[in-house]
Amino acid sequence: MDLKIDKKIKLWLEECKDIIRRNTDYKVDFKTSKTDLVTTADRDIENYLRNQINNNFPSDQILGEEAAYEGKEDISAAENLWVIDPIDGTTNFVVQARDYCTMIAYFENGQAKFSYIYDHYQDKILSAFAGKGVFLDGKKIEKPKNKGLSQSLISLSSDVYRNEDYVKDLAERAMSIRSVGSSGLDGARVCKGEFGAYINPTAAAWDYAPFILMADELDLHISRVNGDDLDLEGEGGYIISSHKVYEEISNIISK
Ligand code: IPD
Ligand code: CA
Ligand code: CA
Repeated sequence: MDLKIDKKIKLWLEECKDIIRRNTDYKVDFKTSKTDLVTTADRDIENYLRNQINNNFPSDQILGEEAAYEGKEDISAAENLWVIDPIDGTTNFVVQARDYCTMIAYFENGQAKFSYIYDHYQDKILSAFAGKGVFLDGKKIEKPKNKGLSQSLISLSSDVYRNEDYVKDLAERAMSIRSVGSSGLDGARVCKGEFGAYINPTAAAWDYAPFILMADELDLHISRVNGDDLDLEGEGGYIISSHKVYEEISNIISK
């Protein structure tokens, strides 16, 4: 782990927290629908992180949710790539003022090197470093147990309830169903062994980029929901889970 970069990113995350604190009368806009929100706080954090990355690593490329939404990103040939979601769980941020996070993931020639998920309300950082493991506030976490579906809480994004026929079957076979409402924080609970899986069939790269490394370090399953390999293109969704849960879920899904 590069201690200098780790220190730098933690300072950036501190500043992200302050940006939210200062944004007491943030403005809310709608993107693709009335449930797809963006606030001035999302834009301020993304701009801040972009400036930091550009100043410190001028030749690196950035894939950030808000600029990608405005159609500015081309990452096809990126050697050094930062993927950022300034606020993941914007609806939670607006409605509940909790359960939202800032996510940063870094890739070199497509290989994940480090990633961060900062839970603003809990003030906790989950971070991962290639070959070193996953850390909660600097303390290495254990690999989760490889439990099956009937011993696991399964977390689903709204789009599963809206669109997927398998949801009833899954609810009957799992221990129970949960949703935090932030891809980053739902997925983080899988990393911590609290949930057996998180399924989001419409997530984009910034919603799951940190988990590519975390899943690898924790021996968890991560893929598109249909089992295809993940990449950083499109909005093809993902599942992160224990290996046993994935095996059982893939049988339910393919029925
Ligand atoms: C969303 C949240 C939500 C998930 C959506 C994501 P945003 O991200 O993670 O829980 O269901 O698929 O797009 O828009 O709050 O950054
Ligand atoms: Ca997101
Ligand atoms: Ca976001």
